[in-house]
Amino acid sequence: MTNPTLRIDDLRLGFKTWSGTIDVLHGISLHIRKGERVALVGESGSGKSVTARIVLGMLQQLKSARISGTVEFEGINLETLKPASRHALRGTAMSMSMIFQDPTSSLNPVYPIFTLFREVLQRAEPGIDTETARRKAIAALADVAINEPERVLESYAFQLSGGMNQRVMIAMALANNPALLLADEPGTALDVTVQAQTLRLMSELVEKHQTSVLFISHNLGVVREFADRVYVIYKGNIVEQGPTAGLFDNPQHPYTRALLSAVPRITGGGIPDIEDDPAQFLAPLFAHQGYSEKELLK
Ligand SMILES: Nc1ncnc2c1ncn2[C@@H]1O[C@H](COP(=O)(O)OP(=O)(O)OP(=O)(O)O)[C@@H](O)[C@H]1O
Ligand SMILES: [Mg+2]
Repeated sequence: MTNPTLRIDDLRLGFKTWSGTIDVLHGISLHIRKGERVALVGESGSGKSVTARIVLGMLQQLKSARISGTVEFEGINLETLKPASRHALRGTAMSMSMIFQDPTSSLNPVYPIFTLFREVLQRAEPGIDTETARRKAIAALADVAINEPERVLESYAFQLSGGMNQRVMIAMALANNPALLLADEPGTALDVTVQAQTLRLMSELVEKHQTSVLFISHNLGVVREFADRVYVIYKGNIVEQGPTAGLFDNPQHPYTRALLSAVPRITGGGIPDIEDDPAQFLAPLFAHQGYSEKELLK
C-alpha cells in the first residue's frame, strides 16, 4: 500500500486571544489518496480555509495559533520538516500548491505575468534560463486554453480579465506538477459561466497529471461534479464523509441533509452554475427544520 498523498489526523486548532482560546478545529481527520479529488464542504467559518493553511504551513508561523495533531504529506510528517526544507518542497514534484478564490488580487500587480511564472518555475529548477522558462510558461498557458500566451506573459494581472487570471493561476499552480493541489473556493470571485469553464479546465488537467486535490467549496453543485469523495465540516468537526454519489443520494447527518436540501436539484450534466451563500440560507433553514446545534454536532 502506498502512502496517501495527504493524511490529517486529529487536527486541532485554537487561536489565543486576550479573553482566552477560541477553538476552531476540534480534531479533524481526513485523507486524500493519489489522484483522488476530495472536497471539503461546509458553511462560512466552519474551518475549511484554516485546514488548507495548516497543510501549507502558513498558520504555524502565527504566534496566536495553537495547533496539534498530525499532518502527513506523502508519508512525511510535516512537523518534522524544518521551515527551510518545507520551503524547498514548494513548487517541486514532491510539493503542493494552492489556488485562491480571487485570482486577480492573488497575482502580484507589480510584475508582468512572465516574471511571476518564472519565479514559480525557479522553485523546481533554480537555474532555469529565460528561454526555457518562457517555453515552459507558454506550454503551460496553452494547456489552460489561453490563445495568445506570448501576449499574456507580457501583460500585468490588472490588464487581464478575471477568467484569464484564474487560468494563469491554474497554469502556475500546476506548472511544476505538484503532488497535491489545494483549491480554496477557486473562481467564486468570477461570474458563474467563467467559473464553470475554468473548473472544467482544472478538472481535465488534474486528471491528466493524476494530481491529488483538496477542493474547498460552498457550491455543492460543483462539488458533485468535481469530487470523488466529500468531507462535510461543521463548526470545526467532520460530521460526515463518503463517496460523492452516495453522500448526495443518501446523506446521513442532519447538517448534510440541511446543506443538500438548500440546493436546487441538479438534473443535467456538466458543472452547474449555482451561486450560493450557505451563511445566508442555513440559519433560517435550521430553524425551519427544527435542528438544534446540539443535534447537528452529534
Ligand atoms: N488568524 C486568525 N485569528 C483568529 N481567528 C481566525 C483566524 N483565521 C481564521 N479564524 C477563525 O477561524 C474560523 C474558521 O475560519 P476559516 O477561514 O477556516 O473558515 P472557512 O470555512 O474557510 O469559511 P469561508 O467559507 O467563509 O471561507 C472562523 O471563525 C475564523 O474567524
Ligand atoms: Mg475560507
